[in-house]
Amino acid sequence: MTGSILSFPERGPWGSSSWRGNCSGHVYRALFQSIKPASFCDPMSGSGTAIQVAEMMGIEAFGLDLHSGFNILRDSIVKKIDKEVDLVLSHCPYSGMVLYSGQQWGSEPHPDDLSRCHDDNDFCEKMQIAMINQREATKIGGYYGTIVGDWRRGGVYSSYQAEIISRLPKDELAGVLIKAQHNMQSNAKSYKAMKLPFITHEYILIFKRKKCTTMQFLQAIAIEQAQRLRGTWRSIVRHVMIQLGGQAKLEVVYQTIQENAPDKLQRNPHWKDKIRQVLNSSGDYFSEERGVWKLA
Ligand SMILES: C[S@@+](CC[C@H](N)C(=O)[O-])C[C@H]1O[C@@H](n2cnc3c(N)ncnc32)[C@H](O)[C@@H]1O
Repeated sequence: MTGSILSFPERGPWGSSSWRGNCSGHVYRALFQSIKPASFCDPMSGSGTAIQVAEMMGIEAFGLDLHSGFNILRDSIVKKIDKEVDLVLSHCPYSGMVLYSGQQWGSEPHPDDLSRCHDDNDFCEKMQIAMINQREATKIGGYYGTIVGDWRRGGVYSSYQAEIISRLPKDELAGVLIKAQHNMQSNAKSYKAMKLPFITHEYILIFKRKKCTTMQFLQAIAIEQAQRLRGTWRSIVRHVMIQLGGQAKLEVVYQTIQENAPDKLQRNPHWKDKIRQVLNSSGDYFSEERGVWKLA
């Protein structure tokens, strides 16, 4: 693997071509050749493509899946396989485009089947749980990650890869690869009227496990999310100050924000404190006259 784009039109002899949403075994082979894991786990193994490739390459491999009783939202991977491994890579079902329980396997939909999430938010929250579980089964210095695509429906583009990256600490992200998807011609027909291209790629998100404990890791996620929220308040105040010509009375700033972002305010009863905090401590504003703020 020399670049960050992987494109394999053939799927090879591994796994099963009749397993919907299966992945080319050549993708796993290229990843294993590059990362060189001695041990590997696929906790959403589907038809077993990755496991067969790993075994062929002499890598100790553990395949788990909801279809054979392992539920990544309830069961600990590390306890199930009884060891930490060098690489834990899943290929998650996203968007509900392909349904697994009750269609690909089993007679009933399973409530924890990731292909049967209620909505995008439900999926992204569950994927965060799955990734934390995968991380815990990864050796320190080893890699964990997922193969996921984006999805557009009803004119709305859902970027699952961006959502997953934003729900994990920045300093563990090690690589984002593009995986070209082939044999999607028939689906493309219904997209003829679209101005934007049909999505023909997935992402391989790779994170490197650092030394910190799961609790420290979760704390890092919470701190990053709080920073992002503060950043949003900073952007709101800046946008309004630009609209108001770079100078405004505090009451006018409140009023303009109230008119422009009613949803955001409904969720935060302390919204006026947030605005004052940005004006006072972001370093972006100064006040020469009581109650009047200017862009610095
Ligand atoms: C995209 S498929 C994997 C395909 C695989 N890479 C292959 O080539 O055959 C996703 C798999 O995730 C499994 N899955 C869905 N929800 C799960 C859960 N909660 N725990 C474990 N596996 C789950 C599904 O049963 C399905 O087999």
